[in-house]
Amino acid sequence: MEKIEFMLVTDEKLIVFTQALADEIWREHYQPILGLAQVEYMLKNLQSKEAISGQIREGYLYYLIKSSVGWLGYLAVNIKAEELFLSKLYLLRQYRGKSYGRQAINFIEGLAKLKGLKKISLTVNRHNASSIEAYRKFGFLISGAQVQDIGSGFSMDDYLMCKAI
Ligand SMILES: CC(C)(COP(=O)(O)OP(=O)(O)OC[C@H]1O[C@@H](n2cnc3c(N)ncnc32)[C@H](O)[C@@H]1OP(=O)(O)O)[C@@H](O)C(=O)NCCC(=O)NCCS
Repeated sequence: MEKIEFMLVTDEKLIVFTQALADEIWREHYQPILGLAQVEYMLKNLQSKEAISGQIREGYLYYLIKSSVGWLGYLAVNIKAEELFLSKLYLLRQYRGKSYGRQAINFIEGLAKLKGLKKISLTVNRHNASSIEAYRKFGFLISGAQVQDIGSGFSMDDYLMCKAI
């Protein structure tokens, strides 16, 4: 298994790479689940250059995931007082199912442990079956469900999942 690196997104150039990865991955992965109109709305509101910069200013940590072949994807976490919230974990389609996700989860667990945290939580769309299955394999359990109005007639229909570490 090839070892991968996690590069903290600190400057505009890296934010632009992150946005480009989000554009490609979200359109490919979420269009069948959410439809193109909602994907475009969410990309504009959550993963534009400005939106990512704003989240980083609020304390979110974005990391690009890199191997010798280039960028594989990205992740984002929010380290809270009681838990680490895994906000984003996205690999390009061609790099899925090769244990890179597991390496990313190990990295995220390391971040949580460094802060003395004992729990990782996340939300995942209820219809994102492949990712729910991967998270189960990573040791996450479904702990609840939530529907969130995100405006313009769109909503997020999610499971909450968490893992004790
Ligand atoms: C979810 C994601 C990060 C998982 O990473 P990954 O590198 O593909 O997963 P891994 O190769 O490390 O696999 C981990 C485990 O999940 C299982 N798994 C992975 N994809 C699966 C799938 N589509 N169906 C069933 N099981 C799956 C693997 O078999 C493996 O199990 P094992 O350890 O028992 O062999 C990645 O697939 C991805 O980016 N998906 C699309 C974007 C997305 O939806 N992200 C989550 C948003 S909340």
